[in-house]
Amino acid sequence: MNKLREIVDDTIQVLEHMKKSGTTHVEVSKQTLDELNKAPVVVKPKASQPTGDFAALATKVKACTKCSELARCRTNVVFGVGNIHAELMFVGEAPGADEDEQGEPFVGRAGQLLTKIIEAMGLQRSDVYIANVLKCRPPQNRTPLPEEMNNCRPYLLEQIDAIQPKVIVALGATAVRALLDVEIGITKMRGNWYTFHNTPIMPTFHPAYLLRNPPAKREVWEDMKTVLTKLSRPIPKMK
Ligand code: URA
Repeated sequence: MNKLREIVDDTIQVLEHMKKSGTTHVEVSKQTLDELNKAPVVVKPKASQPTGDFAALATKVKACTKCSELARCRTNVVFGVGNIHAELMFVGEAPGADEDEQGEPFVGRAGQLLTKIIEAMGLQRSDVYIANVLKCRPPQNRTPLPEEMNNCRPYLLEQIDAIQPKVIVALGATAVRALLDVEIGITKMRGNWYTFHNTPIMPTFHPAYLLRNPPAKREVWEDMKTVLTKLSRPIPKMK
């Protein structure tokens, strides 16, 4: 392989690692930039484009019929969206009507609020990974049944194993129950760290709850600041 190209590839790897560890910028001399500009362009798949095992997992999940009622009623399986190398992952409950329609998690009203929260953290939706405990919409948005959670949980665990986020934010009681197997109320748990397979988990209120209870946004912002600190990321000023 061309030596220069090898150096560029190594540099990209180091920079990606630094970005994951919270570095937001590095100083580069003009001479280095000039040398880099001479290197051939290396076209790599975008971080958010699933490859290999992750794509195979998505294909498997999209064909799942373990929950016969959910498989019969769904328009789309809502696998997940975002950066498969994300250091931050959000886990919600289950798709609603909009998500079922579009095949993407958190795109309805609650989803728009989640997007605002992510942006307030100085991030974009494409920087993080977003998934649900259930990949199919329960009819009338009813709470997932224990059997449905048991059927779908392994898929979420496979997603987490593949992404290996530094932090998981569990949105609401169902996500907390699926990940931590506890029945303690979200009000008691939010704002405190828990661990799942060595990954720190921050439980917080579900955005749908925030739509009904806007004052609770203040607590969610406190939780997100704790998450940013854990990720060694700057805390943007609230507008
Ligand atoms: N609520 C969730 O828990 N997940 C979604 O994707 C949308 C709403």
